Amino acid sequence: MEEWTGPAGRYQLMYGGNTLKKVTVPDLRARKWGGPHGPQRIAMVTAYDYTMARLVDEAGVDMVLVGDSLGMVVQGLSTTIPVTLDEMAYHCRAVARGLGRAHLVGDLPFMSYQVSPAQAVESAGKLMKEGACESVKLEGGQEVAEHVHRIVRAGVPVVGHIGLTPQSVHALGGFKVQGRGAEGADKVLADAVAIEQAGAFAIVLEAIPPDLAAQVTSMVSIPTIGIGAGAACDGQVLVCTDLLGLARGHQPKFAKRFADLGTAAVDAFAQYVAEVRSGAFPAAAHSYKPNAAPASAPQRAVVVHSSYGDELDAPLALDLWH
Ligand code: KIV
Repeated sequence: MEEWTGPAGRYQLMYGGNTLKKVTVPDLRARKWGGPHGPQRIAMVTAYDYTMARLVDEAGVDMVLVGDSLGMVVQGLSTTIPVTLDEMAYHCRAVARGLGRAHLVGDLPFMSYQVSPAQAVESAGKLMKEGACESVKLEGGQEVAEHVHRIVRAGVPVVGHIGLTPQSVHALGGFKVQGRGAEGADKVLADAVAIEQAGAFAIVLEAIPPDLAAQVTSMVSIPTIGIGAGAACDGQVLVCTDLLGLARGHQPKFAKRFADLGTAAVDAFAQYVAEVRSGAFPAAAHSYKPNAAPASAPQRAVVVHSSYGDELDAPLALDLWH
């Protein structure tokens, strides 16, 4: 893979002579309706650092989300609520450096946009300027429609997020499926319409029944991206550590493991421990060439003082130079 460094630094990649163009917001919108080959579903995944970003980009993922799920995945918290805007900007910046093709979405964390539309615009601006994001995502429906509208008017593309909105975990009474019953379904439908009308270019649907997700998908003109919302959505998103089988402990029903890298990692670490203890690592292959002859550099007489100020004896002092 050869990188083409355009004026903006990371806009095109060359794979064996084929130029892969950056995925843009208009491209993503158009995927709902499709081009010459019909609609093409959008593959989105989370990433929180440069190394993971390189891997997902190389795999051909369309959208990379730096989710506030980093609070739980990276920081070990039990909810996303404590995550700050500065932390989001830091992780977005790292991920941006690893992406060539995929579109980068940054999550607005709890209380960085709910206070007012003006606060929402400022926070979105920070993720674009400091986090090098190409769009932002925020949770909520009708109650944040005005906030979405103002961010979009400021020139920042927005992804909505309705259904289970983890920042409201306490108000919802836990991480529970949403949109059950007529009232629950009506709320999800009304939220989807409000977010579309406010100008979002896509909506994440989290943890809602698949028939309701299908209804939302056919009702709105922008792509829906499901997580625990069935197969009818225009795209899917998963948390990278769930997808790779790196996460330990309880997994949500929708989190399909496409690999078991957690077990592979534990095995590799255990083998490292065993080889360090046995002396099998490092072998000659992992060591520098030994000196051919004894060091011929003139030995300098050095006087070294211990931290107590007294002079250390000569052999120890000379050892410090090798
Ligand atoms: O924070 C996150 O990772 C998310 C996805 C689960 C959609 O919001």
